[in-house]
Amino acid sequence: MMKSWHYEVAYQVYPKSFNDTKGDGSGDIPGVIEKLDYIKDLGIDVIWLSPVYRSPMKDNGYDISDYQDIDPSFGTMDDMRQLISKAKKRNIRIIMDLVINHSSDQHPWFLASASSKDDPKRDWYIWEEADEEGNPPNNLRTNFGGSCWTWHVGSQAYYFHSFTKEQPDLNWDNKDMREALYTMINWWIDQGIGGFRVDAITFIKKQFPWKQEPADSPDGTAKVQPNQPGIGKFLQEMKERCFTGKDIFTVAEAPGVPFSQYDEYAGVDGYFDMLIGFEHIDVDVNDNGRWYPSKDWHLSDYTKPLTEEQKAISEGGWTALYIENHDQPRSLSRFIPEAHQTDYSAKAVAVSYFFLKGMPYVYQGQEIGMTNVNWEDINQYDDIWTIDEYHTALREGFSHQTAIEAVKRRSRDHARTPMHWDDSLHAGFTSGTPWLPVNDNYQSVNAKQAQADDSSIRNFFKKMISLRKSDTYRETIAYGSYTHLVPDHDTVYVYTRSLKDQTVLVAVNFSATPQKLSQIQFKLNQHLFGNADHAWTKEVLNLDPFEAVVLDVTRLQSEY
Ligand code: GLC
Repeated sequence: MMKSWHYEVAYQVYPKSFNDTKGDGSGDIPGVIEKLDYIKDLGIDVIWLSPVYRSPMKDNGYDISDYQDIDPSFGTMDDMRQLISKAKKRNIRIIMDLVINHSSDQHPWFLASASSKDDPKRDWYIWEEADEEGNPPNNLRTNFGGSCWTWHVGSQAYYFHSFTKEQPDLNWDNKDMREALYTMINWWIDQGIGGFRVDAITFIKKQFPWKQEPADSPDGTAKVQPNQPGIGKFLQEMKERCFTGKDIFTVAEAPGVPFSQYDEYAGVDGYFDMLIGFEHIDVDVNDNGRWYPSKDWHLSDYTKPLTEEQKAISEGGWTALYIENHDQPRSLSRFIPEAHQTDYSAKAVAVSYFFLKGMPYVYQGQEIGMTNVNWEDINQYDDIWTIDEYHTALREGFSHQTAIEAVKRRSRDHARTPMHWDDSLHAGFTSGTPWLPVNDNYQSVNAKQAQADDSSIRNFFKKMISLRKSDTYRETIAYGSYTHLVPDHDTVYVYTRSLKDQTVLVAVNFSATPQKLSQIQFKLNQHLFGNADHAWTKEVLNLDPFEAVVLDVTRLQSEY
């Protein structure tokens, strides 16, 4: 079924690091409004705004203490209304981040729940008694490390949390709690937003009955597992009560959903419109979720899951296409060895995911080729998850070197350093002191320069977006069938998208050596574009180091 947003492209704003208009070192909503034309000019239709709700900021806004108010550090509800309406004038929809697996421990619901065992909201969160020795019900470990159970002295019980102890999990088995969430969700839809990015939603169903889980870590703990049986009942109810029949779309962060369940989650009758999957991106994470010791990975660890995902949505499903967000390192740093990190190779990385079926997401700064920072000292980092990984690595006997290498590869702070607007002090992000230092390379990597230079990465993104939307190719790119060519190749990613008699071939060389793929034969109809400045005339895939091309071809063979 065709949807209005099937040709659309999204841009993620992490507001704390985007643009500060007040000079307090932290980005704000007026800062997003100020940059709407910059975003529109890229060709963007959707902005996913990371949380701006009232929050004690233990996890930068993913710990919400009031779902229906804006945190003063970001502005006011009036600023938010202005953002929605000014975006709408530019045909941009604002997608809010919906964090409903947990709230902040400062949310009035939790304060009431914790106030007494008899409080009417006691059951809105998950409380358990200690056993005879004072221990919690089991050995589950949170996504950020440490036990999922925190002892609450006031009410003499443990409460459950899948993330930090300041983010207690809501109890979805409680109907009143669910009703309160649905009222809140519908209130936001009434404010004119275009949909939701639904945070960590696969964690809402708990691992009942509680029992010791098989340990996956030397300390005897087991990481909390998402997507528990029975979750569908809640997701279906939320869809019916809040989403069905509205002019919105939903994109769910869905760790733990296997490709075999994509149809149930994001097929034609799915709970959501599209998913944020992890298989293609968690290439460098160990089986127990740890970032250390470093894990060798190959290009096929990225391309094969993408292929599985494309197959899983082939019957009318949809997905979020992304290689960066606020939880991931910068893609240029992840995919390209340091010596080869240039505008040229950044464009190649961008091509690799951009013409798949789904909605492409561009993360702030990705369009100008921002890279990871190189901080050697753990004290320079802010992110709670990063700090936990580092210290746990040391506790488990790994060296500082191994621990910091993991952090330098994988920290969430790489994506959270302030956006580079220009080459002035603090990259034009703030007139004050930025909450997290800017990356040293802002003088050569910044939006002002990228806008002025025809051959910049940003202008390349503009071209990719306009090709996706062009009258000639948009149907094929939105709905064409997908074939992964030379699927076992560990240095090139080649795929085609075909519809009726049109085939678009996308080829990316991820290596520093030329690649010749003479087994792939085609008749060249048109060179659509590539990262090299010369036109492509060859009918054989001879790719230069880090070269990417997008071609309109007639394929001469059906299988490779
Ligand atoms: C999601 C968010 C992440 C946050 C976590 C807890 O994974 O993307 O930033 O820390 O949920 O809300």
